[in-house]
Amino acid sequence: MCGIIGYTGVRPAAPLLLEGLGRLAYRGYDSAGIAVLADGGRIVRCRAEGKLARLLEKCQGGAEIPGTAGIGHTRWATHGAPLEHNAHPHLDGGGRVAVVHNGIIENWRELRRELAGEGYTFSSETDTEVIVHLLARAVAAGRTPAEALRDTVGRLRGTYALGVIFACEPEVLYGVRRESPLLVGRGDGEMFLASDIPAILPYTRLVWEPPTDTIVRLTPRGVTLPFPGDAPAFREVTWDAAAAERGGYASFMEKEIHEIPQVVAHTATEGEALLPPSLAGNVTGVTFIGCGSAYHVGLAGAYFGEKLTGVPVRVFVASEFRYHPVPLAPRELVVAVSQSGETADTLAALREAKRRGAYVLSVVNVVGSTIARESDRVFYTQAGPEIAVATTKAFCAQLVAVYRLFAEIATAKRGRAVGAEVLSGLAKVPDAVRRVLDGREGIRRMAHRIAQAESAFFIGRGADYPACLEGSLKLKEISYLHAEAYPAGELKHGTISLVTAGVPVIALATQSALVGKTLSGVEEVHARGAEVYLITDETLTADAPTAARFVLPHIHEMLMPLPAAVAFELLALEVAAERELDPDMPRNLAKSVTVE
Ligand code: M6R
Repeated sequence: MCGIIGYTGVRPAAPLLLEGLGRLAYRGYDSAGIAVLADGGRIVRCRAEGKLARLLEKCQGGAEIPGTAGIGHTRWATHGAPLEHNAHPHLDGGGRVAVVHNGIIENWRELRRELAGEGYTFSSETDTEVIVHLLARAVAAGRTPAEALRDTVGRLRGTYALGVIFACEPEVLYGVRRESPLLVGRGDGEMFLASDIPAILPYTRLVWEPPTDTIVRLTPRGVTLPFPGDAPAFREVTWDAAAAERGGYASFMEKEIHEIPQVVAHTATEGEALLPPSLAGNVTGVTFIGCGSAYHVGLAGAYFGEKLTGVPVRVFVASEFRYHPVPLAPRELVVAVSQSGETADTLAALREAKRRGAYVLSVVNVVGSTIARESDRVFYTQAGPEIAVATTKAFCAQLVAVYRLFAEIATAKRGRAVGAEVLSGLAKVPDAVRRVLDGREGIRRMAHRIAQAESAFFIGRGADYPACLEGSLKLKEISYLHAEAYPAGELKHGTISLVTAGVPVIALATQSALVGKTLSGVEEVHARGAEVYLITDETLTADAPTAARFVLPHIHEMLMPLPAAVAFELLALEVAAERELDPDMPRNLAKSVTVE
């Protein structure tokens, strides 16, 4: 997620902004930059792609940039590749205005067309640059900077947090936000703007978050509101810097789980179609490739997709696909799923699929990553950077993207109503996830007992099975508790020999036609002394002997792996907490597996 810092005061701004950017780096970024109001009404800008070290080198630590007010930004690409010319701050051609922006401007295309039609030239592919030109146009037309900002935000649709400086107003900093976070910090003879508290915590603990759409004007002497609004109410931050980075949560994993409602709402509605309609109607089969959780996304998609579209779906672990020459049918779609977009096995499988002439769609979180670049088409999940090694919000976003993909194929093949039903089902997911999060105490109680065990089993049938695979992977990954997932009917073919008194069996039963079958499996393990934890849908009657139950909110049956996955993520998190383990950095694991 992008980060913003702004400063006006008495200290040299550039080194301070660069330091602040360093404290925003934990959020993930792929380029960065600063712009400072220098003497003589000039704006001096310095940007670099890649790590902050490159920016520091490029602007020599800021020592040579004069000026005591400016803005800085760490960018995590959404529109336009992570290259220097797309990095913020963006500047208008005349060097009168500089802008940093977090969020997404939804109507940027139409604004860009309008401005280009008037002769404005663009030097980036970002949505942000339209803001710069709108501001410059308004100032050129005689508006004051504050009026220009008010007029400009009136034209924007979407979400944003903006930091703006104008060459004509030395030592002044403007900020405004809609939905995206932006804070004002008050120091002694200096003021700050930041998207996150950690950026300014060494300088001040007094912060205020302006209400949405309130324009703030900062000078070293304080904050004023150029237009009527609520008086600033500063509060004191009591967190330490590390807790502040995590937004007050105990771990990044916990924070990222709590971002899921927002993330899935976004992935369900934003971005372009996954496939051009002409292609969606012609797909003869779908083959998923991915690793770990991304592989589970394909499995869940297969249950859903085949039922919805009638198109055959296959799912391969990428490391197997790359050496296994499965025949690909003409017009078979290959879908590479990857959060990082850099997983070596998925990339190799993608190359192999392309070598064999397949059309490859990738579902990727990191913009500009290798898998994204090498695919015929890419859909960005836009879940924001995921810091914790165990994937949570990105997994859910991938799943939503895959549901959308099948809704598109179904629409093209079977008519609009079929796809529309999926989309209206997806609209209910954010609330369902919120309700799971609200029920955390029940999961904590389960975790307290499960954490004492040495191994656990997950069972489920149909679409519940891939959700169980994901639940078991999460548990293993961060709590080091040995866990296996099985289709509920499969346990009796061998593994039931491991089910003895006290072994936890976590049964997921959300599929109405299969709940009775899963409960038979529950009876079998219960008869051998297992402690059964049943996770089911609120609308299903599930009569079974259990140690504890957790009820999931009901949504479209095929979408139930989403709330189920969130319940399992919380379970893994709570078991890790019981075992006093750091969930963010599990042993032996890397966030991005770039070796075979
Ligand atoms: O970046 P990717 O989505 O390609 O990563 C794939 C797997 O390495 C990843 O999902 C892994 O299984 C996670 N650590 C699971 O939480």
